[in-house]
Amino acid sequence: MPYQLSILGCGNMCGSLLQGMLNKNMLLPQEIIIKNSSLARSQIVAKKFQVQPTDNTSEIETANLIMLGIKPQRLADISLEPAKDSTIISVLAGVTTGALAQKFNTKKIVRVMPNMAAKVNAGLAGMFFTPAVSAKSRAEIIDLLGASGETLILNQEKHMDRFSVLSGALIGILGFWEHNFAEYNNGLAQQELKKILVELSGEKFFDEDSGAKIINQTFLGYQAVRSQTGISAREMQQKVSSKGGVTEEMTNFLSTDDTRKAQQDFFRHPQENSQFMKKVLQKMFEAGEKRSLEFSS
Ligand SMILES: NC(=O)c1ccc[n+]([C@@H]2O[C@H](COP(=O)([O-])OP(=O)(O)OC[C@H]3O[C@@H](n4cnc5c(N)ncnc54)[C@H](OP(=O)(O)O)[C@@H]3O)[C@@H](O)[C@H]2O)c1
Repeated sequence: MPYQLSILGCGNMCGSLLQGMLNKNMLLPQEIIIKNSSLARSQIVAKKFQVQPTDNTSEIETANLIMLGIKPQRLADISLEPAKDSTIISVLAGVTTGALAQKFNTKKIVRVMPNMAAKVNAGLAGMFFTPAVSAKSRAEIIDLLGASGETLILNQEKHMDRFSVLSGALIGILGFWEHNFAEYNNGLAQQELKKILVELSGEKFFDEDSGAKIINQTFLGYQAVRSQTGISAREMQQKVSSKGGVTEEMTNFLSTDDTRKAQQDFFRHPQENSQFMKKVLQKMFEAGEKRSLEFSS
């Protein structure tokens, strides 16, 4: 009997999604199988979630849903032949459905951009479905990932890059701010920061309602992870950031002397410095989106 869900690369992100699903009893642990970089690693991670470990690629290939959670740069090492009825769910930042279709010889693909708050069921996942995914699988996947928090269905794949910088990366940037600026937790600064981010995401990326949903849920998710897991602000930034990735690009931009000064002024006197902070954040998003587009091209 094929597994309901297989995960190839159950690390920080897919582990968070898996935790979110298990918290809500969306699947039984015996319906889930995972494969990491070695059997020993698969066994350690599987034990933590009480799911099944495997070293056998065919058990991954035949699952109803195959979730890919490796780093994008590891994709070249992977070889999979998904069964005809299987659907691939990829969380890989910047890897297009076209590239995945070519690599795995299937058209049934869902791209998902989740965030770390999935593990405490306060996440936010943007999803893009290829037309080949059946209505039944689509509903199943929305249900499954919806257990980890809010979802937003994106009608155009190019919006995934925008969504990545807004939610996937922003939750790590909040960690950067809280770690580096003592005044981050000041109520007025938070309020002003959210206002700027909602304005920017509405103006630059999505419509006003979607922008507000993305920003509010990202703040909520960040707070939920911090308070429920005891993870520090610095660790939050580190877990989201990967070398050469979008979050790192955005935090590098925020770490230059000039932008640091602008952020410091903003967190100390939010209302007086909000217009300048908005310009800084606009440039930060542009840097992140540019990096994300470089991945996808
Ligand atoms: N972190 C985030 O906040 C975030 C947000 C949105 C999207 N993403 C996307 O999620 C993906 C994973 O990121 P992450 O932060 O979760 O990284 P991670 O913690 O390093 O997880 C990657 C996993 O891939 C496994 N792996 C490596 N090589 C493998 C192989 N040849 N076969 C099977 N498994 C292999 C690793 O296994 P071992 O346990 O054996 O090392 C590890 O568990 C990336 O593509 C990223 O773009 C991440």
